Amino acid sequence: ANDTPARHQPPTAVHDSAFLKACRREPVPHTPVWFMRQAGRSLPEYRKVREGIPMLESCRRPDLVTEITLQPVRRHGVDAAIYYSDIVVPLKAIGVELDIKPGVGPVVERPFRTREDLARLRDLTPEDVPYVTEAVGLITRELGATPLIGFAGAPFTLASYLVEGGPSRTYENAKAMMYGDPQLWADLLDRLADITAAFLKVQIEAGAGAVQLFDSWAGALSPADYRRSVLPASAKVFQTVADYGVPRIHFGVGTGELLGLMGEAGADVVGVDWRVPLDEAARRVGPGKALQGNLDPAVLFAPRRAVEEKTREVLDAAAHLEGHVFNLGHGVMPSTDPDVLTRLVEYVHTQTAR
Ligand code: CP3
Repeated sequence: ANDTPARHQPPTAVHDSAFLKACRREPVPHTPVWFMRQAGRSLPEYRKVREGIPMLESCRRPDLVTEITLQPVRRHGVDAAIYYSDIVVPLKAIGVELDIKPGVGPVVERPFRTREDLARLRDLTPEDVPYVTEAVGLITRELGATPLIGFAGAPFTLASYLVEGGPSRTYENAKAMMYGDPQLWADLLDRLADITAAFLKVQIEAGAGAVQLFDSWAGALSPADYRRSVLPASAKVFQTVADYGVPRIHFGVGTGELLGLMGEAGADVVGVDWRVPLDEAARRVGPGKALQGNLDPAVLFAPRRAVEEKTREVLDAAAHLEGHVFNLGHGVMPSTDPDVLTRLVEYVHTQTAR
């Protein structure tokens, strides 16, 4: 009774931030902005503090996690911070042998292929990730009125790395399991749902004001396969954290045909990539949900006038949404000029000031 979700209501200033208001579909003073991968290689100050420290090691150091999470907030004035980590951190924390190879991504030593492999996925407890609790505490204290977004990889995207053994364009091993042994596949995704939900709970209990579930690679699936083989596990994650009352964001790439189902899974905010205009996305998602997106991250390499024109198009398509959080359609690319991001935040804020 000491630890009921109601205790995790954020402080008033955070609760009243433009970002959380937009997520709740309440009126906002300006459209809030943050960027997926806002922390990371586009920032020289990030490259400096990461020098000589492997990615996964940096994720276990609360001082570094705090500094890296705050860097884009200081530099760009974004309306939310996102916790610096990676989707494979909870898997590493329960003993899965994996690493993040620079320029490649997560690589799993022994890919998951059989029922015996399920035993390699035990439950995650807060004691497995003490550095997360500590870092979220440090970050939220420093952030003041700016909300912190916690995140996790969704069961399908995590399973794609575990089963393929690394990044894939085709997901042939994951799909072979999904079609060939649907029960094993369902059991694997259900285990991952429990781990993911436990990891999100740690972040919320430590002070995260919203969470984003990254199902980055769900766009590889047809709607029927997504509904049957993936949605139940993602829905379990969202359901497990529902009582905390923090906004739940659901994002994937190339998910135009899945937007309605991704909302149905239990999201309060649906993330949209640049392929579907936000007014059309709103029709696909239906009422009662906010949208997040959706400037093409490649647009940031065009001249300033073009960046502003394309941003204007996003804002115009979002004009009649119930709630809009401005973001890119996917992560910031490492070679992006950070000054372009700073100007973009300023442009969205002034264009939408009410
Ligand atoms: O600012 C933020 O968005 C927070 C940090 C963050 C990272 N990874 C840090 C990171 C977040 C939210 C993630 C999530 C993540 N990781 C996803 C989902 C988001 C998406 O992009 O769709 C996925 C698919 C991963 C897996 C992953 N980790 C990939 C594909 C890569 C890139 C590999 C490479 O080097 O190009 C990583 C590594 C990674 N995660 C880096 C960072 C800053 C780069 C590693 C480094 O700086 O050495």
